[in-house]
Amino acid sequence: MVKSIEWKDNKVIILDQSKLPLEVEYIECTDYQTVADTIKSLKIRGAPAIGIAAAMAVALAAQDIRASTFETFYKKLKPVMETMLSTRPTAVNIRWAMERIDHLLVSNKEQTIDKIKSLLIEEAKTILEEDIEVNKAIGLWGAQFIKDGDTVLTHCNAGALATGGYGTATAPILVAREQGKEIRVIADETRPVLQGARLTAWELKMAGVPVTVITDNAAGALMRRGEIDLCIVGTDRTVRNGDVANKIGTYTVAVLAKENGIPFYVAAPTSSIDLSIPSGDLIPIEERPAEEVTHIRGQQITPDGVNVINMAFDVTPARYVTAIITEKGAFRPKDIKKLAIKGINISDIMIKQ
Ligand code: MRU
Repeated sequence: MVKSIEWKDNKVIILDQSKLPLEVEYIECTDYQTVADTIKSLKIRGAPAIGIAAAMAVALAAQDIRASTFETFYKKLKPVMETMLSTRPTAVNIRWAMERIDHLLVSNKEQTIDKIKSLLIEEAKTILEEDIEVNKAIGLWGAQFIKDGDTVLTHCNAGALATGGYGTATAPILVAREQGKEIRVIADETRPVLQGARLTAWELKMAGVPVTVITDNAAGALMRRGEIDLCIVGTDRTVRNGDVANKIGTYTVAVLAKENGIPFYVAAPTSSIDLSIPSGDLIPIEERPAEEVTHIRGQQITPDGVNVINMAFDVTPARYVTAIITEKGAFRPKDIKKLAIKGINISDIMIKQ
């Protein structure tokens, strides 16, 4: 299985996704700023993967801090966490990871600094390992919606590269195949930076999954011709009312799916769910450099000085989402907020095929 990130010999090793699929290169990060730069420049991307990277960056920074008291140590680590939070605004996973690290720090303040430093490394590694397990569980819950012979459309890359491993949107596909179902994937190319054409196609091909790349513009036509059975996408942030932020173009796919009577599923690990925000309109949407639109692989494709809008994400209203598939089960978008209710019997709100 392809590894987007790992902790090795006190370094963070990141597979440079900006070079895929033409070159497979790894970046050895020995300081947190390098990790922050790899996140900003999309060398590592995908909501769960950048959450893991942020946790590893904090663990890395912690090793270099000289402090004799917890207070000094904590004070020096806080700006590192702030830096990681500022790298990319839409995916809630970085905040989720920083809150988890913060909780670990505060609840271990009586420990020695050396002990806390090693706990931070362990926690970052655990976040990665847990993510893989979470994705496998998403796969098991999601595979029930995929029938033998189905063609699944996906947008962007919510696969192994976007996570600790296995992927979120790809997990149900992988499990369905393990169950003996013949599945075909259609990958939207996903302009502007082509995560579908470059990354989803690459990793699915390596995993032996039949994959076909289409231009983003072709999805509607294929749906109308009856060539798509279901859509599964990932999410950077799913909020209280079940609205979902994901890669720009996801909303278009969801509206087209509804128009054509095709189920539209969102694979959302609970680390991507933000119940503090009531509606998708309040999700911060990252704007990225114009060059991503005006150039393809360094080649200018637009007239000099043309205006550009480059929103990295859009929001799909809950009414277009058939189900949100989490590691705890699959739920109607309106029920996602109920996951926070203490003592709720999850099977009462779960969707079963
Ligand atoms: O800009 P990116 O490549 O980080 O966008 C990634 C996506 O939109 C993914 O679908 C999302 O992060 C979910 S990854 C499991």
